[in-house]
Amino acid sequence: MKEMLEKIRAAAAEQLEAVTGEGELEALRVKFLGKKGELTAVLRGMGALSAEERPVIGALANEVRTFIEEKIAARSERLKSEAVSKRLEAERIDVTMPGKDIKVGSRHPLAKVELEMCDIFRSMGFDIVEGPEVETDYYNFTALNTPENHPARDVQDTFYITDTLLLRSQTSTVQVHVMENREPPIRIVSPGRVYRSDAVDATHSPMFHQLEGLVIDEDITMGDLKGILEIFSRRMFGDKTRVRFRPHHFPFTEPSAELDVSCFVCGGKGCRVCKGEGWIEILGCGMVHPNVLGMSGIDPEKYSGFAFGMGVERIAMLTLGIDDMRLLFENDTRFLEQF
Ligand code: DAH
Repeated sequence: MKEMLEKIRAAAAEQLEAVTGEGELEALRVKFLGKKGELTAVLRGMGALSAEERPVIGALANEVRTFIEEKIAARSERLKSEAVSKRLEAERIDVTMPGKDIKVGSRHPLAKVELEMCDIFRSMGFDIVEGPEVETDYYNFTALNTPENHPARDVQDTFYITDTLLLRSQTSTVQVHVMENREPPIRIVSPGRVYRSDAVDATHSPMFHQLEGLVIDEDITMGDLKGILEIFSRRMFGDKTRVRFRPHHFPFTEPSAELDVSCFVCGGKGCRVCKGEGWIEILGCGMVHPNVLGMSGIDPEKYSGFAFGMGVERIAMLTLGIDDMRLLFENDTRFLEQF
């Protein structure tokens, strides 16, 4: 029996060494240690042994069992670590290989300028509000005190969808929505797209962007308008910028004005950018007409306000030094990448 046990030990040692996977290992465990295994078979025969032999053989059988168990455990450990090394080898990454050149997009220069404009007004307590691009003629004209026969209503300028529906030709429409829905004090700017049936050239496009402003409260004066626009102009065009009002006419403001800023390139001496004028026109503005306040449910006896509207492309072209608006819409990345 002793011999048989030693044989089992030797066979187990040899076969376990040759194992290549967990499945085979388990099969050997059953073969040697299982209920119907070789070692169990030997132990069953122990009843036939003499009283002196039995403890000796018993001790040896236990030793062989422990030996096989330890061998299996060790073999299993090794199989696991071999599997890990294999996987590490298979998934090895060469970190010195050149990476893929992924093109990262960025904000469009026009969007950047619009954001900057909004930020300046936001810092002065203005809310940013958006309005619909498809409007009724009421919001685009009637509520803005633009009479039936006003040339701006001409089909030549405005894209009509039906007799009464149109693509807004100005962001001033948002003034009306805001006055209908908010109580004074009101302090908003509204950026967005506007549409006019203009032919494309260096300074015209059938779609462009405006930024509208509206402030309504008790005792708002033209001085407040000038102060706000002066701060905006200095932040946008530089600390040394001066502003001036020129009288003008808009149906929805009275009095109305256009705002010029001193040329931020030549400082007012006259150059190519200001066309020798020293001044650059940047927006239209005025005190909101009492009719406009009244139509939108604001008491013109109690409240007054000012409004202004400017072209974002125009401001962008001035600050970015571009002399053709089409560059902003062609989306040639060689151009866009410069900003
Ligand atoms: N809506 C005018 C335009 O498109 C710009 C404008 C002028 C807006 C005066 C105003 C304003 O709010 O008060 O030319």
